[in-house]
Amino acid sequence: MRRLLVTGGAGFIGANFCHHWCAAHPEDRIVVLDALTYAGNLASIAPLIEAGKLRFVRGDIGERAQVATLLAEESLGTIVNFAAESHVDRSLEDPAQFLRTNVLGTQALLDAARTAWGAEAHRRGCRFHHVSTDEVYGSLAPGAAAFTESTPYAPNSPYAASKAAADHLVRAWAHSFGLSVTISNCSNNYGPFQFPEKLLPLCILNILEGRPLPIYGDGLQVRDWLHVSDHCRALELILTRSAPGETWNIGGSTQEPNLAVVGTVCDLVDHAFAAEPALAARFPRSAPAQGRSARSLIEHVRDRPGHDRRYAVDSGKIARLLGFRAATPLQAGLGATVRWYLDNEAWWRAVASGEYRQWYARQYPGTRGT
Ligand code: NAD
Ligand code: TYD
Repeated sequence: MRRLLVTGGAGFIGANFCHHWCAAHPEDRIVVLDALTYAGNLASIAPLIEAGKLRFVRGDIGERAQVATLLAEESLGTIVNFAAESHVDRSLEDPAQFLRTNVLGTQALLDAARTAWGAEAHRRGCRFHHVSTDEVYGSLAPGAAAFTESTPYAPNSPYAASKAAADHLVRAWAHSFGLSVTISNCSNNYGPFQFPEKLLPLCILNILEGRPLPIYGDGLQVRDWLHVSDHCRALELILTRSAPGETWNIGGSTQEPNLAVVGTVCDLVDHAFAAEPALAARFPRSAPAQGRSARSLIEHVRDRPGHDRRYAVDSGKIARLLGFRAATPLQAGLGATVRWYLDNEAWWRAVASGEYRQWYARQYPGTRGT
């Protein structure tokens, strides 16, 4: 039986991970630590809390003493660190918050693990897994080989730089203090419970509300899309089978330009409205309800400063050594994601209010807000 601390478990990937782990390992103890920033939503894991499948604690990974106490009192021997500020655009607006959480927060969490686990760490098989991003590797030229685990770090945004710094800290705590760590660097995730500031949920919600779909620059930036359920399976393989000290790249092997992915989402929403006339009554402002294709909402807007042109991840190592393959084809994964947002209107209406409205108005001035 494992006893896990999942930090950031009320966020997008953390919540999906909690659902996955509770279903796959019902005998394990899970404690979620989450500060519930604008991006954290208790509703995403509420059924698990109500069913007694996990304990939720509101708190900051940067509070070393509090985290060390929690680790000790719950005898937690595995940490999966999802907690982070995660949005590139916000990192351009307020880099300091990214350094506080992603760098100093990770350092405090590493220290809390050392304090709580002490000399017992190895005997107990303790493990600190750090969830990171492919963005630490910087931008790839067209045709350049995909990122491997030995690609040099070259982060370009404050977000990517803060994640790169955290990765270096995790490595250093292993080297200097003997902490048992693993790191994973994953490509762009999509799926249920994703906060609507990110490209795909933003586009789905904007189609339903009849708002423009803001495509930065020419929209030909390439990302390697991975369904979040595949990411969770990869993390499970790493947690259960990886030796300490390893780093793992996780990608979907699905490189697509933003414009193509958004176009597919548009077509999927149009198709859903054509097949299900009740949707037009539920979303009267949506493009298809008004007799227009969702693609008609696409608008090219000012590019993101320093926008990385292309990411692509070589998942060869995790495929070879742990048997991981992304199982969700992009078209099917996008279809399921569109369906999830159609079926979970209460979830996104709640998260797309308050702080999100103000941010949206700042980020997309001149367009109609939520
Ligand atoms: P998210 O923004 O949806 O969730 C982050 C969660 O962390 C939220 O619940 C938030 O409340 C919590 N949090 C923030 N600061 C905290 C703090 N100081 N203490 C405790 N909790 C705090 O992010 P996500 O998309 O789920 O990403 C999770 C992790 O995966 C991040 O580390 C991110 O860098 C990494 N990642 C994300 C992607 C992606 O495509 N979303 C891809 C690769 C890696
Ligand atoms: P995002 O979801 O923010 O993830 P990341 O920046 O971590 O890759 O953005 C994905 C891609 O979509 C990225 O190239 C930026 C682009 N994008 C837009 O074109 N318009 C938008 O409104 C957003 C949020 C992103």
